[in-house]
Amino acid sequence: MREVTPRKIMEMKGREKITMITAYDYPSALLADKAGFDIVFVGDSLGMVVYGDENTLNVTMEQMIFHTRAVAKAVKRALVLADMPFGSYEVSVEEGVKNAIKLIQAGADAVKIEGGADHEKLVRKLVRMGIPVMGHTGLTPQRYLRLGGYRIIGGNDEEVEEIIRDAKALERAGAFAVVLEFVYADVAKIVTEEVSIPTIGIGAGPWVDGQVLVWHDVLGLIDFSPPFAKRYANLKEEILKAISEFRREVKEGRFPEKEHYWMRK
Ligand code: KIV
Ligand code: NA
Repeated sequence: MREVTPRKIMEMKGREKITMITAYDYPSALLADKAGFDIVFVGDSLGMVVYGDENTLNVTMEQMIFHTRAVAKAVKRALVLADMPFGSYEVSVEEGVKNAIKLIQAGADAVKIEGGADHEKLVRKLVRMGIPVMGHTGLTPQRYLRLGGYRIIGGNDEEVEEIIRDAKALERAGAFAVVLEFVYADVAKIVTEEVSIPTIGIGAGPWVDGQVLVWHDVLGLIDFSPPFAKRYANLKEEILKAISEFRREVKEGRFPEKEHYWMRK
């Protein structure tokens, strides 16, 4: 078992900020764990940032299993969390259970589902079985079509009530934390005060129990990031520079150099 457990995450509420970052492959997960993140998260955002899809609706269980395996091999300390993809848990509790088991067997320590109140039964069942669950409310990208694209949530009473209802349902069902994505910061503050489980924000302001960002956004690996994502590096430029230099050196006959090849004598 890894060092960071769901219980430890719960105990951090009100004491210490929870840090979470996505990772989708072995080398990035190694770095995320080395940096000391509490949670390394195989998000279904991989559909967009790794596979180039327009939204997360086409991510499959197979993709999640393969990427979870790679991440799980790398992480020794952090809690490894895996997203349940669209279509893997909505049809029935039974299907949700079967698919959650697959992610655990791929090496995840916990699974995340979008929604709360709609999936209270599934969450309760998973928790009773011994599978820790994180919920996710506010902007839920798997509801992209109904929402009419990605937008901030919580601008009217109905949406605020839905967020609170989800968070409370998750708490009741035994979830160990909840992601609040792209909600008004004052709404996130209320939710954080109203539930005993930690809230982990993304585009939800500072009054939450932790923060999560997507790997490619943090590192500047893609052109279009959401407005709430802070770019801490511009690796796209670095990579372009490096591979262009390799290409140029081949064209100009400057690579390989002496130390990169061998003669029989
Ligand atoms: O898939 C993902 O990266 C997420 C985070 C944005 C929370 O769900
Ligand atoms: Na996700």
